[in-house]
Amino acid sequence: MIDQYQRTIDYLRLSVTDRCNMNCCYCRPEGECFRGQEGSRLLSLEELYQLCEIFSELGITKIKVTGGEPFLRPGILSLLRRLKKLPGLSSVTLTTNGRMLWDTAEELAKMGIDGINVSLDSFQPDVFSSITGITNGKAVLDGILRGMDRALELGLPLKVNTVLMRGKNDGEIASFVQLARERPVSVRFIEMMPIGEGKRFETISGEEILMRLHAMEGGLRPCEKPLGNGPAVYYDAEGWKGQIGLIRAVTAPFCSSCNRIRVTADGKLRLCLAYEDGVDLAVMLREKWSREAMKQAICQAVFAKPAAHPLDGWKKEMSRQDGKDMWQIGG
Ligand code: 5AD
Repeated sequence: MIDQYQRTIDYLRLSVTDRCNMNCCYCRPEGECFRGQEGSRLLSLEELYQLCEIFSELGITKIKVTGGEPFLRPGILSLLRRLKKLPGLSSVTLTTNGRMLWDTAEELAKMGIDGINVSLDSFQPDVFSSITGITNGKAVLDGILRGMDRALELGLPLKVNTVLMRGKNDGEIASFVQLARERPVSVRFIEMMPIGEGKRFETISGEEILMRLHAMEGGLRPCEKPLGNGPAVYYDAEGWKGQIGLIRAVTAPFCSSCNRIRVTADGKLRLCLAYEDGVDLAVMLREKWSREAMKQAICQAVFAKPAAHPLDGWKKEMSRQDGKDMWQIGG
């Protein structure tokens, strides 16, 4: 699919649940833990699959399954297995908080999942607890780290997503560097975006993070070959097994090359994180629209994808939304 600004749209982020078993301070409002939409409003697994089939026929080649926490969705492994078999898809990946990774890594490896992103903001149990709202932080953190090692042992491509917050976890940059040095992991620092709960936090700029990385790692250099086809810019140093990436979503938005669309767990098509869109795919499925009619409606909506995040007015624009935040959109 091509939009009105000649961008090729080939990447779909599919949220399969808005429930989560963590309550990260910049993502979910307090008390949202475990709450989610009522079952019948969610797309069924079959509906999710049908949508992916339609999107793949429309030229989507990469699908990332997100949440909430995708592993809380019953049947998620069977959905992933089916997606892996869809002709036309070159990549099926998953974003998770990692709590259930140890238990599922083997299945994921067996089906040939193309990558796993683990959202991890701290290695320190008390800080991890305070960010995630989890009381037994140490046990959960240990489990996540074991799950990551298990995934690596099985040869699964692993990325770590980290959002830095001043005075909370920004003192841990060195630990994330150590991870990238010792393990074949892409650690990506994502700038805090002023969406939902994220509005309450300062954005530490990628530029500042890069300066701090240079100060602690003299040999830091941009990676020779650009890695991946996402918005991260990667750095490494001699002898590292992995790399560090910066995703400057706020200070250097990548809208002009944005190739992505999103579907929420209740079946709304979203064309930009910063805008609310009205296309309701669940209604089309339930009213039994023909495939052709659905494809036409999707292409029309995608064509109108907004040019960019509202740059100076991001905060203002965000507060006009109808209340869908990161935990419902899936990042
Ligand atoms: N700003 C930046 N990243 C965010 N994420 C969630 N909320 C925000 C925000 N406000 C990240 C999570 C996860 C990814 C899917 O999105 O940390 O890694």
